[in-house]
Amino acid sequence: MRVNTPTTVMNCEASATTSAPTVTPAARAVLERTAAEVLRHKDAGTFPLAPGIMQLDASVYACPTRFEKEKARIFRRFPQMLALSCELPNAGDYKTLDVAGIPVLIVRGRDGTARAFLNSCTHRGAPVAAGCGSAARFTCPYHGWTFGRDGALLAVNSAEDFGAVDKATSGLKQFPTTERGGFIWAILDPETALDPAGLLSGIDTLLAGFGLENWTCVESRALPGPNWKLAFDAHLEFYHLPVLHRETFGPDRSNQALYFFHGPHQRLLTPIPRPGTPATDDLHGLGRLPTGAEPINPLMTGEWILFPGTSINLFFPGGHRGLFISQVFPGETVGQSVTIQTYVSETPPDDDTRAEIARLCDFLARVVGTEDIPTSFHQQKVMASGLMPQVQFGRNEGGLQHFHRWVEKLTNADDADLPELLGGGITLAF
Ligand code: FES
Ligand SMILES: [Fe+2]
Repeated sequence: MRVNTPTTVMNCEASATTSAPTVTPAARAVLERTAAEVLRHKDAGTFPLAPGIMQLDASVYACPTRFEKEKARIFRRFPQMLALSCELPNAGDYKTLDVAGIPVLIVRGRDGTARAFLNSCTHRGAPVAAGCGSAARFTCPYHGWTFGRDGALLAVNSAEDFGAVDKATSGLKQFPTTERGGFIWAILDPETALDPAGLLSGIDTLLAGFGLENWTCVESRALPGPNWKLAFDAHLEFYHLPVLHRETFGPDRSNQALYFFHGPHQRLLTPIPRPGTPATDDLHGLGRLPTGAEPINPLMTGEWILFPGTSINLFFPGGHRGLFISQVFPGETVGQSVTIQTYVSETPPDDDTRAEIARLCDFLARVVGTEDIPTSFHQQKVMASGLMPQVQFGRNEGGLQHFHRWVEKLTNADDADLPELLGGGITLAF
């Protein structure tokens, strides 16, 4: 049996000062409409369904050509959420990650700006940083070239022997990056003419309701998995919760999700309260829409899905509000992915809360690592065999239908189509 153990667990231990989150009136209106719709279904005892079942060619999970196309057309072209502001609260704070085969370094500069770079020395390509931490500058471990927090080439080792280097054009290759509402987004194509801020479909204006720039990053770990879409499918429905997770979450969890769409992004809510949610954070607990003067928390409840592969869930270990963020990225081959799980706490945790958070993260790593991922590896084997021509997404799995339609749409869209597909303000569909 394949055993999936966490490959890395890092303490990210970063925090910033606290202030109340603010959202635009347009974003608040969308959050309230969503909440009103949830309460309407709860009161009426109704559960909306997609118009029909969707069939999807199973080869999309196993075809290497298709996989390369998705990496190029989605992961190197679509703005991806690659870091949380609270992971890099101070100048010099950095993190590294691999996104669909591209090594990325994200650093906060002395001017407070977060920038994403290709983690590759401009001498001969070695990585200039590893893991996460804080640095005044980045010295390449291969021959010792040094780069600043803004990516500029500062010094060439033994410059007198090396020969003339044009420092102005030898800085780290930079990706277009935008930081909004506590989330850092980048397009992993240094030559793109597209502006990441213009392609977020307004989801950033809703996420601002968390005020995440002021939270504390507690830990991060990575789990290996199968094809990125198979791994991510499990985040896009609640249908499997009381069945696959009956031993961990228990058999009584609702298997119904109400889906709300914002361009390619989406949000899943349950028509009944989720266990463990305090009444102050749960719309169902309030039994009414919060008024404008109240904390926005009950309007932010549920699971948030950031296209292509991020899922965000609220938890309350020890009564303290926090977010468990899962990011699924393609691995080296069509049958491989990595899921990065990160936990951020609304307030800096004391020792007891930290222990509660560690227990929660271990539990969730076990849920995903011993229940979801082994199931997905089995599906991967079957998809690769060619013996199962299609998979089916039910009328109760509208979020999966939405996700796969957008994968298809963006894989086939031209660059020129993207502003129209993804631009504009926040929209809501359900
Ligand atoms: S590859 Fe970085 S200094 Fe040579
Ligand atoms: Fe699951």
